[in-house]
Amino acid sequence: MPSVFDLDLPMLQSDDLDRLEALDLAERVAKESWIARTDLGVAVLHQPDVAAILRDRRFHSALSKIREMNGVDGPEGDFFANRRPSILSMEGDEHTRLRRLVSPAFTPAAADRHRPAMRRVITDLLAPHLDAGRIELVAEVCEPYPIPIICEVLGAPAEDWRLFSEWATGIFKIFNGNLAEDLPDIESASVALAAYIADLVEERRGTPGDDLLSDLIAVESEGDRLDTPDLCMLAEAVLMAGTDTTRNQLGCLMAVLATQPDRWAELRADRSLIPRAIEESLRYLGAVRLTVRVAAEDVEYRGVTFPEGTFVSAHLAAANRDPAVFSDPDELDFHSTRPVEQMTFGSGIHRCLGAALARAELQTSLEVLLDSFATVSLDGPVLWKPPSFGIWGPAFLPLAFTRA
Ligand code: HEM
Repeated sequence: MPSVFDLDLPMLQSDDLDRLEALDLAERVAKESWIARTDLGVAVLHQPDVAAILRDRRFHSALSKIREMNGVDGPEGDFFANRRPSILSMEGDEHTRLRRLVSPAFTPAAADRHRPAMRRVITDLLAPHLDAGRIELVAEVCEPYPIPIICEVLGAPAEDWRLFSEWATGIFKIFNGNLAEDLPDIESASVALAAYIADLVEERRGTPGDDLLSDLIAVESEGDRLDTPDLCMLAEAVLMAGTDTTRNQLGCLMAVLATQPDRWAELRADRSLIPRAIEESLRYLGAVRLTVRVAAEDVEYRGVTFPEGTFVSAHLAAANRDPAVFSDPDELDFHSTRPVEQMTFGSGIHRCLGAALARAELQTSLEVLLDSFATVSLDGPVLWKPPSFGIWGPAFLPLAFTRA
């Protein structure tokens, strides 16, 4: 069976493109081929293959290789070697155990408890700008929105949101591609967050609250429970995975809606369309463009071998525009019930644990924005983050609106 590297594959090389052009390129390449070469390895582009690779346990999360990829797998990377691995990079029985324990705490009902706080946070962020009729949404709303909500979800006092914001900035440096240099910042943020969460866990063990940490402390399955290092790791995973994703997705949503006045009017007239609009905007322009897997053994798939160690990008954005699965994929459609779920939350064992929370955050923020703006449009060009950003969205989103 030929190796995937023996095939004559189109190249998905997008460094000199902006992100929307990069998405176009992936869509164009996807018309010719289900698979392409990338600088890192290969990328799969069609929805059924993206779903199959993400569900295939012979492919592991590439996050487990982040130290090797950054050349810090020696003693300088001891911090990573010595701490509890993240749920995002775990595999096998260890991951199955954790998902079984934590899943009941991440249901839609659990997320819905926090809708009043979500509404409060976004209303307060918008209030100072309502008379002006214009707002730069990224700095004023998208960036600050998720952190107070993560505090509320975990059960931390709202006034500590600045600490969480600093820790999130430190921990996010993990994705900057400069791990050797950034390690001290990452380590100090992670250690400070873990100390804070360990104290909060102590408190909640005595006095449970109506929050995620209390729910996670209470979980028990077949005599198994989560210990304090598990709880600290999960709090860090929630902060890491739930902050930048949500703020960028909100930016993507509003960048799209600000150019579609008919859609805005339609949503204002019929709020029951909001959940469908959020799903469709996740499909149409998702903040997570791709996620990377590594072959843990030689894997045969579709008549080719992916040699052990091959990096495979599961191209969620291209899959979301696959015309064989989504009819009229370049149209934003709030009415058709598409039979296949959009891919921006991933698939398989690592599928987004916070999907219900993210949906609640996006739906609530859209409700408040629809209550606040009778009409909305772009007030200048949108600046997009570079396409190299794994979690992507507008860097600058100037909006003009009429007050509702
Ligand atoms: C629009 C917002 C969000 C998007 C687009 C998103 C997307 C994703 C994707 C694609 C994955 C899978 C990554 C992979 O397979 O390699 C993932 C995993 C994860 N997400 Fe989200 N996410 C969002 C919001 C959140 C929120 C609010 C939370 C907070 C609880 C969260 C927590 C997680 C966790 C803990 C994982 C790891 C699950 C595992 O590895 O088992 N996410 N997310």
